[in-house]
Amino acid sequence: MNKNKTLKVSIVMGSQSDYKTMKQCEKVLKNLGVSYETKIISAHRTPKRMYEYALNAEKNNIGVIIAGAGGSAHLPGMIAALTSIPVLGVPIESKILKGLDSLLSIVQMPKGIPVGSLAIGEDGAINAALLASSIIANNNLKIKNKLKNWRLDQAKSVKKNPK
Ligand code: RP5
Repeated sequence: MNKNKTLKVSIVMGSQSDYKTMKQCEKVLKNLGVSYETKIISAHRTPKRMYEYALNAEKNNIGVIIAGAGGSAHLPGMIAALTSIPVLGVPIESKILKGLDSLLSIVQMPKGIPVGSLAIGEDGAINAALLASSIIANNNLKIKNKLKNWRLDQAKSVKKNPK
């Protein structure tokens, strides 16, 4: 890892079909000025790609990995097993079980290899990006201030009266 370079967030997903959810991460990171990359990596369809990616992640200045996966969602856990970079999992809403399968696969990691699990679908993708930004902000005052302002804007946007 190059200590003088700003760390980026790496967004990965198991399939092209996950992008409609995972593009929410890109929107948030762009808004906060956080550097990111986006890739399709499948634990079962492209296991070699996953292995190479995870082993080189530190060298590639990745500070946080956001991994979106659906169904038997083993991508976040498999990546976490190969690197000590923090991994945040986004359970994709699957067709038949509505993402409950994805959520349980990601959240129920046995002890020893942690994965931070977010909510199913777009809310999870947005929160994963916010959380990843908070982690990067620990060593980046500019992003910390952007996050503070983002929250202030959010608070301002909530009306006091429902009518
Ligand atoms: C998982 O299988 C992906 O993360 C995706 O959510 C799910 C279905 O993939 P496709 O069949 O749509 O490519 O690996």
